[in-house]
Amino acid sequence: MIGGHRGNPAQHPENTLRSFRSAIEVGCDLIECDVHLSSDGRLVVIHDHTLERTTNGKGLVRDHTAAELRRLDAGHGERIPLLQEVVELAIGKVGLVIEIKQVPIQYPGLEDKLVAMLRQLGAIAECAVVSFHHPSIRVLREMEARLQLGILEGARPIDPARMLKESGADVFSPHWGAMDPQLVKEVHGAGGAVGVWPVDDDQAVAWCKFCKPDSVFTNRPVEIGAALRS
Ligand code: G3P
Ligand code: CA
Repeated sequence: MIGGHRGNPAQHPENTLRSFRSAIEVGCDLIECDVHLSSDGRLVVIHDHTLERTTNGKGLVRDHTAAELRRLDAGHGERIPLLQEVVELAIGKVGLVIEIKQVPIQYPGLEDKLVAMLRQLGAIAECAVVSFHHPSIRVLREMEARLQLGILEGARPIDPARMLKESGADVFSPHWGAMDPQLVKEVHGAGGAVGVWPVDDDQAVAWCKFCKPDSVFTNRPVEIGAALRS
């Protein structure tokens, strides 16, 4: 499966509704977004903990209310979406991979709010939640058995199957360069799936064709999707 990483950021401002709509239009099977909590406890979609790189705001996301965040320009006049808007856009069209940004800043209670929202929208079956913060993934597994969960990883661990078991995750999701054929075999042997990121150039495409992960997340879904399918 091809995943639009932050939507289709090669063509539109990352993590905006315009970017996600475009990723769906160009044929992505999945879209990936990054989630934080505003100061008034709303789930909002933006990558960084700080506002400067992708908006005209300043400071930490967590120090602003959702209303303040939504007044900012997230690129080309787009707004920072609420997660609910992204779920409503994706549901019935593509799978949604929600990365919860629990490192380095922690958002106590984020997991409860997320599960409550996905249940209310009837979206549990169409979403996966992933994180570099593996304890959060284990908390989510204890809360909701039906939710697909993934652990993000930057290095090649000794025993990825054990990491899946310990966290209760279904998907092992490393940087593409930390994947190898043996890792894919071990994860599949444990009943898991492998999803890699960010596959943005020919070298990464070639490695994915060799290792055969289950899903590939890219910032260039048009070109990389075509290269992976060829
Ligand atoms: O899908 C995983 C990947 O998005 C993690 O890295 O920093 O791009 O959110 P980052
Ligand atoms: Ca991400």
